[in-house]
Amino acid sequence: MKLHNISIIGSGYVGLSTALGFTSKGYAVIVSDPDKEKTKKIQEGSLPFHEPNLEELLKNAVKTGKLRCVPKCKEAILKTDISFVAVGTPNLPDGLIDLQYIEEASCEIGRALKKKTTYHLIVIKSTVAPTTTENIIKPLIEAHSSKNCGVDFGLCMSPEFLREGSALQDMLHPDRIIIGEYDKKSGDTLEALLRDFYSENTPPIIRTNLSTAELIKYASNSFLATKISFINTIANICEKIPGADVLIVAEGMGLDKRIGSLFLNAGLGYGGSCFPKDLKALITYSKKIGYQPTLLDSVEVVNKTQPYKAVELCKSFLTDLKEKNIAILGLAFKPDTDDMREAVAVPIIHQLLKECANITAYDPVAVPNAKSIFQDKIKYASSAIQCLKNADCCILVTEWPEFKKLAPEDFTKNMKQPILIDGRRIYDSSEFGRIMKFAAIGLGEIT
Ligand code: UGA
Repeated sequence: MKLHNISIIGSGYVGLSTALGFTSKGYAVIVSDPDKEKTKKIQEGSLPFHEPNLEELLKNAVKTGKLRCVPKCKEAILKTDISFVAVGTPNLPDGLIDLQYIEEASCEIGRALKKKTTYHLIVIKSTVAPTTTENIIKPLIEAHSSKNCGVDFGLCMSPEFLREGSALQDMLHPDRIIIGEYDKKSGDTLEALLRDFYSENTPPIIRTNLSTAELIKYASNSFLATKISFINTIANICEKIPGADVLIVAEGMGLDKRIGSLFLNAGLGYGGSCFPKDLKALITYSKKIGYQPTLLDSVEVVNKTQPYKAVELCKSFLTDLKEKNIAILGLAFKPDTDDMREAVAVPIIHQLLKECANITAYDPVAVPNAKSIFQDKIKYASSAIQCLKNADCCILVTEWPEFKKLAPEDFTKNMKQPILIDGRRIYDSSEFGRIMKFAAIGLGEIT
């Protein structure tokens, strides 16, 4: 069965990136979001977050009418025949995920489906714990629509693997597609749409049940987080061995095909809206169903302590940070985003403030978001060079491409004391270490 009139419920990062992936190939999409201000902004062609390549596409899709953004879920459901649900699932204080938005969306979808006489497929893209689609979403849609899943409407769970900063690329060229299906017709319908969309570039498709699809998302993010905490552990060991360098260790490990080189970049830890949240949710869910996930607990512990390595390295040079001027290069949780959620800059800056340091920070795009966290407790520079002026120590927190272009002289000429802590391993240690005090994550004493 071929259904090609697409709607997306939720205009957040995943929803809009997915919508614009579809419109970029000529599909018409209706996006719905109850936030009227946001829908108005999107309808005017303005992207509500920073993401490379999307704003141009959005402007074009709105202009040509390929994308419409509406506040009513009902309109989106009635005018289309396949809906992707991409609403947020944040953590609750106990670590489990907050289902408020997905429950509200399920009720709305159900009420809209009540008015429909034709088959409609619902595809859950939001990250939810195993059994949520079957035990919470399906009953809510059925109750509010008075229709039967598998008969009047279909239901799939197809997790997304988009990275912030390369969402469009990831949407257009995924490594794999996971289709968790309530019944065969639902899975066949989604597969037909995706095969049509990706045509000869269709990646491997795995069809499975709803709960397995839900777990694949958590397992994937938790595994990547594990890789990062693993290499950060090796980095911390390297720092105790004169001459050892985690960069070379990772290179040597990564060439083994069984290990692979990706996600072995040691640094100050992972952040963002996904890894910390998903790992916590999987740990909490696992404990709730009776399994103690010791390995995942350790991954989390390693990541929580890793940002403080930057402060330790700083103190190894300056001893007392009181009244010392610290320059922070990079605030966002990673380059190419303005997202400050769980950014490692946050615990680092809070610790430095606790130690009474004076902080000046620079980030190419995340300053407005950072201001809502730190207000005027820190100063904000308008360029990397301005940030370095008169600093006693600089900590490189986020590896933005423009920071990679800085030369040792940029530090020596502008800082009061040229001391650099490379928290993301972007600088050549022999070049920088020769003319200034230099320390880096995973680098044993320079011999
Ligand atoms: C992550 C996953 O990579 C996506 O596949 C997934 O769809 C997404 O979460 C999600 O669940 O929605 P994202 O959070 O955008 O995507 O960012 P990543 O590029 O995965 O980076 C996450 C964090 O790990 C960043 O703080 C980054 O600096 C850190 N990282 C990454 C490292 O410290 N070392 C590495 O080698 C790689």
